[in-house]
Amino acid sequence: MLRAENITHSFDYLLFENINLEIKSKEKVAILGKSGSGKSSFLHILSTFLSPEKGRVFYNSKNIYSLNEKELIDIRKNEFGIIFQFHYLFNTFSALENIQAAAILAGKEIDYDLIERLDIKDVLNQNIQTLSGGQQQRVSIARVLSKKPKIIFADEPTGNLDKNNANEVMEILCEYCEMNNASLITVTHDEDLKIFFDRVYFLKDKRLEICK
Ligand SMILES: Nc1ncnc2c1ncn2[C@@H]1O[C@H](COP(=O)(O)OP(=O)(O)OP(=O)(O)O)[C@@H](O)[C@H]1O
Ligand SMILES: [Mg+2]
Repeated sequence: MLRAENITHSFDYLLFENINLEIKSKEKVAILGKSGSGKSSFLHILSTFLSPEKGRVFYNSKNIYSLNEKELIDIRKNEFGIIFQFHYLFNTFSALENIQAAAILAGKEIDYDLIERLDIKDVLNQNIQTLSGGQQQRVSIARVLSKKPKIIFADEPTGNLDKNNANEVMEILCEYCEMNNASLITVTHDEDLKIFFDRVYFLKDKRLEICK
């Protein structure tokens, strides 16, 4: 479904080189690594947001960095769901309006069961700025899943959550994948999340090492 070939990237220094990774349909893969190791950058490369210095990324056999604007927008809108480390919610909108915006753009219905499970039903009408960090994170997850993506790219999806909420959110993401035949690729520093994945890698010494 998604295949990264010989990915090399640097900013001020070399982040990683010659990384290969393949994610099949319904697979759940995690990449662990220390702060600054390049996890977010690698996820941005996989998800159309950062063209790598070297290497190629294929989605269903198409190189995502050679798509035209229309194909790219189509993939971002209908196929990929990206949960950013710093969630880009619309600050002047309510929680519900943020979720509605994503659903409308993707032509999907709002999933109220999901909203209930994420425990954000009672704050739907509140302005984003008045929500706690954890609530904002759960709204951003609801927003992404409302689009019904085929691959979820999640950057520290449990970063602002306590242990119980983190496990609950991971269970919701895994359940979404099972029910929708979707894949999940998560980058995180939290080793406790390993149990949720089919495969786990470490981004270390500029390489990807498999550890499960
Ligand atoms: N757009 C950019 N321009 C310049 N440098 C960047 C850019 N994005 C990331 N970097 C640098 O690349 C390195 C890796 O950043 P990245 O955000 O990928 O790490 P990370 O593993 O996700 O860290 P964290 O766990 O803290 O989120 C950092 O040194 C960062 O400053
Ligand atoms: Mg990061």
